[in-house]
Amino acid sequence: MSKTATLEIDGQKYEFPLITGTENEVAIDVKTLRGATGGITTIDPGYKNTGSCESGITFLNGEEGILRYRGYAIEDLAEKADFLEVAYLLIFGELPNKEQLDKFHADIKEESVVDDDIKKILDAFPKAAHPMGVLSSLTSALTAFNPSSVNVDSEEDMYKTVVKIMGKFPVLVAWTMRKKSGLPLNYGDNSLGYVENILKMMFEKPNEEYKQNEILVNALDKLLILHADHEQNCSTSTVRIVGSSHAGLFASLSSGISALWGPLHGGANQAVLEMLEAIKEDGGDTKKFMAKAKDKADPFRLMGFGHRVYKNFDPRAKIIKVAADEVLGDLGIEDPVLDIAKGLASEALSDEYFVKRKLYPNVDFYSGIIYRAMGIPVEMFTVMFALGRLPGWIAQWKEMRARKEPIGRPRQVYIGENYRAFKALDKR
Ligand code: CMC
Repeated sequence: MSKTATLEIDGQKYEFPLITGTENEVAIDVKTLRGATGGITTIDPGYKNTGSCESGITFLNGEEGILRYRGYAIEDLAEKADFLEVAYLLIFGELPNKEQLDKFHADIKEESVVDDDIKKILDAFPKAAHPMGVLSSLTSALTAFNPSSVNVDSEEDMYKTVVKIMGKFPVLVAWTMRKKSGLPLNYGDNSLGYVENILKMMFEKPNEEYKQNEILVNALDKLLILHADHEQNCSTSTVRIVGSSHAGLFASLSSGISALWGPLHGGANQAVLEMLEAIKEDGGDTKKFMAKAKDKADPFRLMGFGHRVYKNFDPRAKIIKVAADEVLGDLGIEDPVLDIAKGLASEALSDEYFVKRKLYPNVDFYSGIIYRAMGIPVEMFTVMFALGRLPGWIAQWKEMRARKEPIGRPRQVYIGENYRAFKALDKR
């Protein structure tokens, strides 16, 4: 393959280098385009054809359904690693040895207390507030309580900041849920594993001892691993672009949480469950909702189907579908909503509209069913996604700063009014 791409505009030819990634992905490097052409730009709404960076964290091949973190297959990580090992892998580039993992966990525990005044901020939110808005605000507020900016060139400084947020974030997540359920704001137990501790913080009642359920611990561990990173998606790109202005890590994460909230992104897991419930309430006729999804005059979309990148299958959905069956089976739960989900999935997989557009169930089609079986309120589902995505966001922010990437600042093509003379108020 030629190592350059040629662009011809009005008979004038311009050469641009091709760059090839380690998995042979090829990109046209247009860094010099505007300078060479006298200001011509590219336009690509939704960035469907635009690589925003070179990254060594996550490899994703949508056609073949491949997802790897730092070279390790998601299937292996979901089966053989725990969430904290995966977080370390994403953030620091290698799987930790026992000593590194123990130290990482111990340092996180040291940091798993938040300033008590955070409770006052939480207190000011109405109970009806959506947990994603609350979590984003509390994460941003962490900046106020931990104001010193991180020196990104110091490994030690970076490490300290990483363990700080890995320690404090689950507390914010648990408190966000407890506030909604009217439960007292508590702390965990440092003798527990990272995921066990999260469950205890979320579910412990003041008048009874919290008993760990291994099925729930394993299910949550797996879900967090599956959500831990997904290269340059909407929230991750947000975290990188906010950080590119040299805004701090916590402020960048808070913006990522807001981006994740939307129903086309992380908010889909809540939307899926609400859709399945609505189908159930309506009598369970999946065909009717399939028809609505295909009707271009109807804005309804089958939530949990389709993906910007996966056009064959979502490897995370495959793993999670099995996990959903296991969890419900192990807990002895018969959920009619799971039957509706299965019905929809099998109809969509053989429906011409969905097959032609390569719309397959994505990770969030099944995750909500597991969260529900775990007793997590629907509005908290996207918060759980954020909990899983935290190490990915941190890793991407850290990489962006370490590579000294320039501030993110796209161009546009202006389509507004040409110059107009100003009209005084009494002349309009
Ligand atoms: N239901 C019905 N039609 C759909 C759906 C759907 N869920 N998704 C896409 N289409 C149609 C769309 O109408 C379009 O049809 P046409 O070519 O006739 O105009 C075609 O498929 C291509 O869709 P698109 O919107 O151009 O594709 P996209 O890559 O911009 O959007 C998506 C990807 C995930 C936003 C979209 O598939 C969607 O809205 N899905 C439902 C929401 C969802 O489940 N989101 C979670 C994604 S996984 C979690 C995460 O990583 O964030």
